[in-house]
Amino acid sequence: MEVASTVAEMRAIRRAFTGDVGFVPTLGYLHDGHFSLVRAAKEQNEHTVASIFVNPTQFNSPDDFERYPRDDEGDLAQLRGQGVDAVFMPSAGEMYSYDPLTSVDVGEITERLEGEHRPGHFRGVATVVAKLLNVVQPTRAYFGRKDAQQLVVIRRMVRDLHMGVEIVAMTTIREADGLAMSSRNARLSAAEREAALVLSKALRLAAQRWQGGERSGARIRDELQALISGEQRARVDYVSVADTETLEELDSIEGEVLVSLAVHIGEVRLIDNITLPSQMKELL
Ligand code: PAJ
Repeated sequence: MEVASTVAEMRAIRRAFTGDVGFVPTLGYLHDGHFSLVRAAKEQNEHTVASIFVNPTQFNSPDDFERYPRDDEGDLAQLRGQGVDAVFMPSAGEMYSYDPLTSVDVGEITERLEGEHRPGHFRGVATVVAKLLNVVQPTRAYFGRKDAQQLVVIRRMVRDLHMGVEIVAMTTIREADGLAMSSRNARLSAAEREAALVLSKALRLAAQRWQGGERSGARIRDELQALISGEQRARVDYVSVADTETLEELDSIEGEVLVSLAVHIGEVRLIDNITLPSQMKELL
């Protein structure tokens, strides 16, 4: 496995590849959610590249950036074990070596949900993903549905800018009890870890209500909000029942719907979502 820390090194490695290249961008501190993306990339391409880069521009506070968990050596060992061909692991100085003037703004879909609570977050995400795709030039890039809005934003950017990479979406990987895997889970105390189950419980309730014929967005939002309020360690940022592409809140549900949540458990902010009815079985 080759490890590139500069753009020039990564480009040289890429040039030597013949055949399809699958790419998995990450912030590191890898878990089974990330590895499911790596496995799909391995299966569908001749070569697999992962990146580990804790991108400062997508964090909303220096504190959140500093506290993001890191384990470069452990991550590299795991990626080697998975048979990844190359890892791009640049420093912040390498990625933003001078003050760049260009950024990618994907419009109003970045202002809803996460965007409303994390101003500038998706400009940071879209810009760094555009930079990474330009360096790695993959055939396919793999993203998790865990970050549903990120996936919508990246798909839109790729389409709007004719980026010519295929975006592959992968199912959310969960712990046995339902908690969506996340690098941030490492920061939960034992009591908070228990309280964090309220997110998947709320999504399960949404799935049950949908199955029972409920089609009012407002009633589903209210019920989920009430359920989460019952957990004393939880504080809701948003509960959303929205269109899967425009991310606009829905009054009445017709086709597919994205039910998504952001909840603070103590000091840790967690997100989760489910698309109904297509992902119904993942939580029932
Ligand atoms: P990160 O949070 O490390 O996630 C990297 C990829 O793994 C994302 O596509 C994310 O959706 C996916 N992922 C995370 N948890 C998952 C889970 N439980 N099941 C399935 N997939 C999961 O998302 C980012 O990094 C960054 O914003 C990035 C795209 C790398 C840009 O900096």
